[in-house]
Amino acid sequence: MDHTAGSFALLFLLTSINCLLCISALDFLSPGSSLSVERSSDVLYSPDATFTCGFYQVSPNSSVFSIWFSNSSEKTVVWSANPLHPVYTWGSKFVFNTDGTMVLKDYNSHIVWTSSSVISSSTPRHARLLNSGNLVVKGTTGDFIMWESFASPTHTLLPGQSINATMKLVSTNRLLIPGHYNLHFDDQYLLSLFDDEKDLPFIYWPNPSHTIWDKLRVPFNSTTSGVLDTLGHFLASDNATFTAADWGTGIQRRLTLDFDGNLRLYSLDKVERTWSVTWMAFPQLCKVRGLCGPNGICVYTPVPSCVCVPGYEVVDPSDWTKGCSNPKINITCDNEQKVRFLRLPNTDFFGYDLGAYHFVSLHTCKNLCLDDCNCMGFAYWQGLGDCYPKSALVGGVTLANLGSTGTMYIKIPEGIHVSISSIPHSQPLGPKYSPNCSATNNYFVAHFLDDELQTGHNESKHLYLYGFLSAVFLAEMIFIVFGWFILRKEGRQLRGVWPAEVGYEMITNHFRRYSYMELVTATRRFQDELGRGASGIVYKGVLKDKRDVVVKKLANVYKGEEEFQHELDVIGRIYHMHLVRVWGFCSDDPHRMLVSEFVKNGSLDKMLFGGGSSHVLLEWKQRFNIALGVAKGLAYLHHECSEWVIHCDMKPENILLDENLEPKIADFGLAKLLNRGGSNTSVSRIRGTRGYLAPEWVSNLPVTSKVDVYSFGVVLLELLKGSRVTDLDKNGDEEVEMVLKRMVNMLMEKLESDTIEQYLITDFIDTRLNGHFNNLQARTMMKLAVSCLQEDRGRRPTMENAVQMLASVDE
Ligand SMILES: *[C@@H]1O[C@H](CO)[C@@H](O)[C@H](O)[C@H]1NC(C)=O
Ligand SMILES: *[C@@H]1O[C@H](CO)[C@@H](O)[C@H](O)[C@H]1NC(C)=O
Ligand SMILES: *[C@@H]1O[C@H](CO)[C@@H](O)[C@H](O)[C@H]1NC(C)=O
Ligand SMILES: *[C@@H]1O[C@H](CO)[C@@H](O)[C@H](O)[C@H]1NC(C)=O
Ligand SMILES: *[C@@H]1O[C@H](CO)[C@@H](O)[C@H](O)[C@H]1NC(C)=O
Ligand SMILES: *[C@@H]1O[C@H](CO)[C@@H](O)[C@H](O)[C@H]1NC(C)=O
Ligand SMILES: *[C@@H]1O[C@H](CO)[C@@H](O)[C@H](O)[C@H]1NC(C)=O
Repeated sequence: MDHTAGSFALLFLLTSINCLLCISALDFLSPGSSLSVERSSDVLYSPDATFTCGFYQVSPNSSVFSIWFSNSSEKTVVWSANPLHPVYTWGSKFVFNTDGTMVLKDYNSHIVWTSSSVISSSTPRHARLLNSGNLVVKGTTGDFIMWESFASPTHTLLPGQSINATMKLVSTNRLLIPGHYNLHFDDQYLLSLFDDEKDLPFIYWPNPSHTIWDKLRVPFNSTTSGVLDTLGHFLASDNATFTAADWGTGIQRRLTLDFDGNLRLYSLDKVERTWSVTWMAFPQLCKVRGLCGPNGICVYTPVPSCVCVPGYEVVDPSDWTKGCSNPKINITCDNEQKVRFLRLPNTDFFGYDLGAYHFVSLHTCKNLCLDDCNCMGFAYWQGLGDCYPKSALVGGVTLANLGSTGTMYIKIPEGIHVSISSIPHSQPLGPKYSPNCSATNNYFVAHFLDDELQTGHNESKHLYLYGFLSAVFLAEMIFIVFGWFILRKEGRQLRGVWPAEVGYEMITNHFRRYSYMELVTATRRFQDELGRGASGIVYKGVLKDKRDVVVKKLANVYKGEEEFQHELDVIGRIYHMHLVRVWGFCSDDPHRMLVSEFVKNGSLDKMLFGGGSSHVLLEWKQRFNIALGVAKGLAYLHHECSEWVIHCDMKPENILLDENLEPKIADFGLAKLLNRGGSNTSVSRIRGTRGYLAPEWVSNLPVTSKVDVYSFGVVLLELLKGSRVTDLDKNGDEEVEMVLKRMVNMLMEKLESDTIEQYLITDFIDTRLNGHFNNLQARTMMKLAVSCLQEDRGRRPTMENAVQMLASVDE
C-alpha cells in the first residue's frame, strides 16, 4: 500500500512540477506543454527580453501566433506561423508535441498550422526564443536544432537571418494579410523583388531595364545566401548590397518587405521606441511597380497616393492594385467612333509601348495613335520629339518636377465628360496652402495615419469579426474610414485620391509644419540668438514637447514658394547621424523658417580655433573622428539621398558637435538642388564663403558635388593645423587662394618623397597638440586634403573615396 501511495505521491509531484513549468515556463517550452490564447502571460521571452513569442491579436476575435519586438511602442511582428488562417481568440492553443513538432489548434481543435516535420531520430529538449529573434526547437543531443523560425521567414529578415533560394519574403499589411510582392532569388540566382499580380511574376528590383553590369550583381552563383549583419550591412551571394544610414553596432534593425512593395531597412530608436527607415529600395515610392494598378496613377500629395486616369473609376477602394476601369470607355476599331485626347502634364506610364518614334511632331504622334485602335494613349516629350504610343495604361506616375517625364495624352471617346479637377498634380508638400501660417495645417496626412488605424481597431469592437474574412473586412473598414478622411482633406484639390502606402509616415513622421505663433512661443519672441550667417539668423527654442530646437529665420533666400516647398520635401527626408535633423518649417509670408535639432556643443570653429569662451582643446582622436564623420555625412548627401544634395557652404561654422563631439553637418539643402545625373547643373549665384570656395565657382564652370570636396579639403587642413587658412598668411598681404595653393604644393612635395622626415609632419600639425597625434592618420589626412584641393575637379576624389581612405586608418 505504502509503495502505491509513494508512487502516487511521486506522480502527483511530477505532474505538479510539469504543470508549474507549463505556467511559468516563459523562457522555454518543454515537450508536451502548450500556450493558450487567453492567458496573456502565455508568451515566450528571449533571454534579453528583446523579442516575445505568442498570440498576436489582429482583431478582437482573431489571433496569429507570432514573434514580435517587445521594445517598440507598437508590437512589431517579425514572424508569424499562420498569417492566412488566424485562430479564434478564445480556446485556441499552441502545442509543443513530445515528438518535437509544434501545432496550432483553433478553438474547435482544428489544426491550422504545423511546423514542418523534424528529423525523428532526435528527441526534443525544449523550444526556446533566442536573443536573435529565432524560435528554435533543440534536440537532446548537443545543440542540435530540429526546427527554427529563421528557416521560414514571413515578411521580415532580422540581423543574422539568412535568405537562400528556398525561402522568400512576402509583403503583408498590418493585419498580417499577405500581399502580392515577394523577395526571393530569381532563376539567375539574383535576389529580386517580384510583383506576383495575376500569377505573372514581374521583377521590379533591381531595375529590370538595367544590364547586369549596371546592376552590379553577379549572376549564377548557386550557393545562394543573403544576410544582414549586426552593423547594418546587407550582402548577398549575387553581390546585392546596401548599408544602413546609421551603420554601427548596438541598434535593433529589421529588413521588411512592406505592403506597398518597398523593401525597407528600419532601426529602432531606443528612446522614442519608434522605427525609422535607414535604407529603402525605392526612395520614390511611386516607382514601385503596380502600386496603383491598371489605369491608376501614383501621385505625391505629399503621401504617395493613387488616383484614377481621368474618366475612370476605382475598381476596389480597399485594394488599389486592382486599378481603375470604366466600361463606357470602349475604344473600338470602327472608324465611326469619335475620340479626343486628354492632356496629362508631367505624367508617364511605364511599359506597354507600341513603338518608339523620335523627332516627330505632336501632330504626327497623335495620328499614329489614332490610326491604331490598340493605342490607349501616348507619351510625348516636347523638345525631343519622342513619341511612345501605349497599348495599356499601367504604372502611371505624375511627378512635380518638370523635365523628368513627358506629357501623356489619353484617348477617350467623345462624349465622356472629364472634369478638370480630376487631372492629377503632384504636390510634394501638399495642396497649395494659404499663406497664413497661423491657420491650422491640414495636409500632413502622414501624421494621423496611425491614429486613424487605431480608431479603426477600436470601432471594430462593435462588429462581429472572426478569422480571415473579418481581417479583410477590417482592412476595408480602415481604408474606408481613412479614405474618407483623405477625400475630405483633399477633396477640393483632387477627387478620388487614396493613400497608396502605409509606412511612408516612418520617414516623414517627425517632419511637420509649424505655425509662426508656435515658433514665437518656442523661441520666447526670438530672444536667444545663437548666431548669424548669410542664410539667416539662428535662435534657440524649446518646443511644446520639451525638445530643444534651433529656429533659423531664413533671409531672402528663396524666390518662390514652390521652390521652397520642393527643397523642404527633400530636406525633410534626410536622416543621417552626421547630418543635423530638420524637424520642420514655417512658411507664413513673409516668414520662412527652418526648425532643426539643437546640437549641444556648438560649431566646430569655436572649439577648433578657440575664439573667446571655449578653452577646450580638441584632441587628435576627436579631430580625426570629426573628419571621418563629416566625410560620411557629405557622402550621404552626395550619393545616397533620394536626390542629390550639394552643400555648397562647407566650413567649420556649419559643422556642429554633439555631446560626444560627434560632428553633424548643418545648413545642407539650402543651395539650389541639382538633378541627379543632370547636365543642367548650374547654380546661378555664388554661395559659400571665401577661403572654402572651389576655383570653379569663379571660373563659371558648372557646379558639382566636387565643390564640397574642395571645401572639405580646406576643413581637413584646418583640423590638422588648428587654425583658419585665412590666418595662415602672417603678413596678410596675399590672397587666401594663393596661400592655399602654395601650401598644397609644399605638402605634395613632402608626401611624394618616400623618406619623409617625421619633423616635417610634426611641423605641420597644430603645435598645441604637443606632438600627440597618430602619424598614419595625420599622413592620410594630409594626402586626402591635397587631393581634395586639386584645381582640376576631375582629379578630386568623391566623398565616398574620402570616407574609404579615412575609414581605412580608423582605429
Ligand atoms: C526594453 O525596454 C525596457 C524599458 O522600457 C528596458 O528596461 C529594457 O532594457 C529594454 N530591453 C532591451 C533589450 O533593450
Ligand atoms: C536554405 O536554408 C535552409 C535552412 O537554413 C536549408 O534547410 C536549405 O537546405 C537551404 N537551401 C539551399 C538551397 O541552400
Ligand atoms: C559589387 O557591389 C559593389 C558595390 O555595389 C560594386 O562596387 C562592385 O563593383 C560589385 N561587384 C561586381 C562584380 O559587380
Ligand atoms: C557565391 O556565394 C558564396 C556565398 O555568399 C560566396 O562565398 C562565393 O564566393 C560566391 N561565389 C562566387 C563565384 O562569387
Ligand atoms: C465595346 O463596343 C463593342 C462594339 O461597339 C461591343 O461589342 C462591346 O461589347 C463593347 N464592350 C464593352 C466592354 O462595353
Ligand atoms: C491667419 O489666421 C488666423 C487664425 O486662423 C487669423 O486670426 C488671422 O487673421 C489670419 N491672418 C491673415 C493675414 O489672414
Ligand atoms: C467575438 O465573438 C463573440 C462570440 O462569438 C461575440 O459575441 C462578440 O461580439 C465578438 N466580438 C467582436 C468584437 O466581434
